[in-house]
Amino acid sequence: MTVTVSEALQRRISTRAFLDTPVGEDTVRDLLDTARRAASGGNLQPWHVHVVAGEARRRVIDAVRERLEAAPFEDESEFGAYPPRLWDPYRTRRFELGEQMYEILGIPREDKAGRLNQVLRNFDFFGAPVGLFFSLDARMNPNQWGHLGMFIMAFMLAAEEKGLATCAQEAWMTRHKTVAATLGLPEEQRIWCGMALGQADPDAPVNTLRAQRVPVNEFAVFEGF
Ligand SMILES: Cc1cc2nc3c(=O)[nH]c(=O)nc-3n(C[C@H](O)[C@H](O)[C@H](O)COP(=O)(O)O)c2cc1C
Repeated sequence: MTVTVSEALQRRISTRAFLDTPVGEDTVRDLLDTARRAASGGNLQPWHVHVVAGEARRRVIDAVRERLEAAPFEDESEFGAYPPRLWDPYRTRRFELGEQMYEILGIPREDKAGRLNQVLRNFDFFGAPVGLFFSLDARMNPNQWGHLGMFIMAFMLAAEEKGLATCAQEAWMTRHKTVAATLGLPEEQRIWCGMALGQADPDAPVNTLRAQRVPVNEFAVFEGF
């Protein structure tokens, strides 16, 4: 069954529990082949992608787990995922997403260990058989980071069309040095985010989460119609 772009946009969610059903290299190549049609200013196509499955996936997961055990709160990212002291309305949106997710998972706010464990699930790609790392040259401007984002969205929609689930994961950014060393990324490359790719676990409650969106009138201004 073919899905329209609008349907793919409606259906896509961040999936946080996967089946271990393998996804073949050809499939991932197809998705990248579609996503590379994403627009980018000056047609720079600033994206770089590292795809891991099998042993390679295991190596990244193990390397990060070792670092997490040695230095649980270390942050290896070269820039924060969020501005410090995030302000409203963004702060509240982020807070509400967390509350919604932990409610579904039945992890109350006092259960710090339970909530931390859920965060740590990022570092095994939530069980997905394929992991991707999206990076770009550190010398690029915010402009090109935006274009990498458009590529990532194109990839997620292409995956949706094929009945595959994804979760973009900035969590990996906090382990940038470890991941980059394990993958052997060139020195100038910066990982923006990782991604889990696979078949969604249809029985996992966390996958029922539908993150809210603010209505159009809250972010768009129309003039001259
Ligand atoms: C670049 C990017 C990074 C993200 N990083 C994470 C992450 O590390 N862990 C996670 O569970 N979700 C992550 N998300 C998912 C967001 O929380 C999610 O997109 C948002 O709450 C909207 O929900 P939806 O994708 O289900 O519509 C990320 C999303 C994007 C676009």
